[in-house]
Amino acid sequence: MKSTKVIVTEKKPEQFSGDLLVYCVEQPKKGALKCDSSIVSSWLEQSGTLEEFRAKEGELLLFYPRIEKESVSFSARRLLLVGLGKIEGNEAHDELRERCRLTGGLIAQQAGKVKAKKIMICLPEIMGIPAKEVAECMSEGVLLGDYRFLKYKKNAPEEELYQGLEEIRLFARASTDALHKAVRMGQIAALAAREARNMANEPGNCWTPSHFATHGRMLAKKYSLKCTVLGKDEMKRMGMGGILAVNQGSTEPPKMVVLEYRPIHKTQTLLLVGKGLTFDSGGVSLKPGAGMEDMKYDMCGGAAVMALMQAVGEERPDLGIVAIVPATENMAGGAALKPGDIITHYNGLTSEIVNTDAEGRLILADALAFGLEKFKPDYVIDLATLTGAAIIALGHHRTALLGNNDELVECLLAAGDRSGEPLWRLPLGKEYTKQLESRVADMKNTGGKSAGTITAAAYLEKFVGDTPWAHLDIAGTAWEFTEKSYVPRGPSGIGARTLLELVRRWKKEEKTVIVQRK
Ligand code: BES
Ligand code: MN
Ligand code: ZN
Repeated sequence: MKSTKVIVTEKKPEQFSGDLLVYCVEQPKKGALKCDSSIVSSWLEQSGTLEEFRAKEGELLLFYPRIEKESVSFSARRLLLVGLGKIEGNEAHDELRERCRLTGGLIAQQAGKVKAKKIMICLPEIMGIPAKEVAECMSEGVLLGDYRFLKYKKNAPEEELYQGLEEIRLFARASTDALHKAVRMGQIAALAAREARNMANEPGNCWTPSHFATHGRMLAKKYSLKCTVLGKDEMKRMGMGGILAVNQGSTEPPKMVVLEYRPIHKTQTLLLVGKGLTFDSGGVSLKPGAGMEDMKYDMCGGAAVMALMQAVGEERPDLGIVAIVPATENMAGGAALKPGDIITHYNGLTSEIVNTDAEGRLILADALAFGLEKFKPDYVIDLATLTGAAIIALGHHRTALLGNNDELVECLLAAGDRSGEPLWRLPLGKEYTKQLESRVADMKNTGGKSAGTITAAAYLEKFVGDTPWAHLDIAGTAWEFTEKSYVPRGPSGIGARTLLELVRRWKKEEKTVIVQRK
């Protein structure tokens, strides 16, 4: 897909001559609808359309202003009214941000239906949320909702191959610098999440561990980051027994991709680790066939972390960020890891393999131990499609969050709410860690049926020591995420925007919320 231009303009909507002009309309508590265009308001009244369009949240009215010969009030080919619903004034701020994103997504969907290329949206004034945030979230929603992945549709009929929006004009009465900056923020966030979706949409035979390496190097070049890639030989030399074990059954070489962003001033360092399992067959403990194709998405943690680095490259925040993506396939080839095998992780801990399908924790463990030793970060966050149990616990609506540091957890919960990617904390504790006890090794790689998401996190906990750490299990949200206008079917790109929000607010929270490490 080509990149979409987003422009803030003060030029009158009546003069916009593109494909679709959009007004957002609030549902009045009583009385007549108020539309930013007095002409539209009077049309609505005269035509009696008010009976059909009440501006409830998500309600739409599409019409063709140029069909009426005598009406030359608008130059646009189509006019779209989008209901915002009632705004009472007591809505939570995050809820209003989400409403703007949802409205943006809906506009993108409608634009897609009529194959619009150039649209203009008149930014509404919404009580309880600053104009710049309306602009930020609305552009984010449109760009997220306008996403499609057509790369492998080579023979589809023309009408299925609509390429999405070329230009989005945002009309504002005063196009201030703050507004421009906010739109840019929305754009950066959306493009990061879209990049994560792109990676996830690539099938396992096209997006291999080596592609994570290539992508990392590309980002490094574009944004002056430092990229290091550990290959199989280095992993052997360094004793990364977890990722090597998982890779044994595959003919694709494993990669550990490290991307470093360093601001000019000395700052804290945040380490991010994303599971980059490019296909999870389960290995010898083979998964059932039905739905196995979805396991090409088992790299969504890695995709989120890479996407975040793209956004970081654009915004250059005042925080050191290191991203590590351990990448491999989990296959059942002749040399594959077997149940009963004992492996040794990077930090020397041994693990009895009970189930080769619990492979994510094995590759993350090495990456965490290595990252902590090498970069000595102040905080560490990992993202992974780690357990089916996360779907049992929270469905497809919330990401499971676990961690050893309340402040970091609080910040992530807040960042998730602000970005429309809600999280829910689950506990850790020695009772759960006990489930991992092995008779023959330091631990085993599964903790039985109960509390699967927690025992998986308890496994990782053994590798983070007392560094403040949080773990996001995105198994339920990386795809089939809650149906929303701005999340098309398929991979959601979850995590990238939450992490970006966390990074954006870091400076403020460094002093007040996140405490210094002991
Ligand atoms: N990648 C899967 C987890 C997964 C399953 C994500 C379904 C999304 C949808 C992971 O590697 C896995 O297979 N986990 C096992 C762990 C079990 C063997 C302890 C699981 O959840 O069944
Ligand atoms: Mn697995
Ligand atoms: Zn997996």
